[in-house]
Amino acid sequence: MPETNLNYPIPHSQTSTRPQRFLAACRRQPVDATPVWLMRQAGRYMVEYRTLRQRYTILEIIKTPELACAVTMQPIDAFDLDAAIIFADILPPLEGMGLSLEFVKGEGPLIHNPVRTPADVAALTVRPPQETLWFTLDAIGLARKELDNRGLPLIGFSGAPFTLAAYAVEGGGSKNHVRVKSLMMSDPAAWRQLMEKLSQVVGDYLLAQAQAGAQVLQVFDSWVGQLSPDDYRTHVLPYSRRAIEIARAAGVPIIHFGTDTAGLLPLIREAGGDVIGVDWRIDLDAAWRLLGEDVAVQGNLDPVALFAPWEELRSRIEQVLDRAHAVGRAGHIFNLGHGILPQTPVENVRRLVEFVHEYSQRLRD
Ligand code: CP3
Repeated sequence: MPETNLNYPIPHSQTSTRPQRFLAACRRQPVDATPVWLMRQAGRYMVEYRTLRQRYTILEIIKTPELACAVTMQPIDAFDLDAAIIFADILPPLEGMGLSLEFVKGEGPLIHNPVRTPADVAALTVRPPQETLWFTLDAIGLARKELDNRGLPLIGFSGAPFTLAAYAVEGGGSKNHVRVKSLMMSDPAAWRQLMEKLSQVVGDYLLAQAQAGAQVLQVFDSWVGQLSPDDYRTHVLPYSRRAIEIARAAGVPIIHFGTDTAGLLPLIREAGGDVIGVDWRIDLDAAWRLLGEDVAVQGNLDPVALFAPWEELRSRIEQVLDRAHAVGRAGHIFNLGHGILPQTPVENVRRLVEFVHEYSQRLRD
């Protein structure tokens, strides 16, 4: 865009275009079109990923920086996305603390030695991410080189202390989170020690990712919606806040994401983050008003909408963008309310990404 073109409308001269769109939206600056990326955008819905997975386990991919970088780039090469997210998982930091992690085919993650007693908590180690998670830090360096060539930013991420505690204590996925919540409610000293260790590990890991080249950081508190507001405030918020505070030193925008958080949004905001992730169980405009003026939002399409016929999917995308537009603030990042599902039709992903740009540009005209 020639800077001296006097016919160019003045408001647009301050408007970010690619490649700055995503970073600008994180900072609540005006953008030419709404930036879009999808949580879990690299994964099984893509044939390129499934093909690589026939040769390597997920942990092998994550622990081989060249492979992790290649998978990070798969959705970038396939769709017109505004950001990449480093290919990793939220669980390897638990390995670094002394837990034994396996991804069981068809069943998800399994921790062979879950944390069940105060002695188990005391045995957890806090080591520098450069020692325990060097592979993801190296992958970030490689991916940044690829992405700089395309002018796109890279997101680093970590699980939040509570969601990591949930896996550490339950030993895997869980419906009601009875074990982790029981520990929280019945042994305050063990809980505090567990959460202090996790917040240090999470904070150090996020900071190291930014130092390795991640331009934005996302904290995934996927299962925080299991908690009452009082329990979140007392037993979780201080530790999420601590982790985010450590990461803040990097000076990059932080996205704070959870699901089922309609009753928790102001508290999640209080814990920290420049952008708050919102799932589909609350209208985006209602969520943004609850969160307040001085924060950006990310979301909030139901991932299952990608399975609907295009006309239906399109109207749901319009609804999210219309709601963000109605609030009249800069700082919306389009995303799903949770990770993309494995059976998602690829063609709908391609159309979604294009349509978010096209429709949001029209809303701005
Ligand atoms: O977004 C991306 O493209 C980056 C990659 C990414 C993965 N996991 C790769 C992955 C990210 C951001 C995650 C985060 C993650 N991992 C979360 C938080 C986000 C969320 O969905 O709430 C959680 C809770 C996990 C833990 C986890 N990892 C589970 C429960 C599972 C098994 C369930 C499932 O979806 O299969 C994983 C495995 C996993 N992590 C896969 C991928 C692509 C699929 C496994 C495979 O390839 O076999």
